[in-house]
Amino acid sequence: MAGKAGFASGVVDMLKEDHRKVKGLFEEYQDATGREKAKIADTVIQELEVHADLEERLIYPAIRKEIGEDSLMNEAVEEHHLVHVVIAELKKLKPSDEKFQAKFTVLGELVKHHIEEEEGEMLPLAEDSSIDWERLEAQVMKRKEQLMMKASGRGKAGARSSSRSRSPKKSTR
Ligand SMILES: [Fe+2]
Ligand SMILES: [Fe+2]
Repeated sequence: MAGKAGFASGVVDMLKEDHRKVKGLFEEYQDATGREKAKIADTVIQELEVHADLEERLIYPAIRKEIGEDSLMNEAVEEHHLVHVVIAELKKLKPSDEKFQAKFTVLGELVKHHIEEEEGEMLPLAEDSSIDWERLEAQVMKRKEQLMMKASGRGKAGARSSSRSRSPKKSTR
């Protein structure tokens, strides 16, 4: 069976859109300077934390159950672990610190590799499986909303409370 592609696309599209956005931000970071760099880093960390939470709590367990590829899933979980470790280290450094920049660049490489594996291997398998996408999508949307609310409530991580600022001119590609 070709999977319930109609519903798969809601969750899978959201993941891919997040991936595209975060990859764009890592690129922007390279060209940015000073406070702009710090702001981008702050946004990336927030985006990654929400995205990782949704995958770890809801999406990965649903996929793991259906595709029967434990080693693939275990590797993805380990990559998430590394991402969390690097993020925790970044949070202890000042964005202006040279070490921060090096670590942030390595984080970008890690994330890019991880995205390639998800989009190249995991998600195609998931789309062909018989996951209950409709149910999963409802769970993901609900949790995402909660996480975003929490994130915007603790806006003192970076520059004041502007961590959610959407500048309309800045395309992430
Ligand atoms: Fe992902
Ligand atoms: Fe992931």
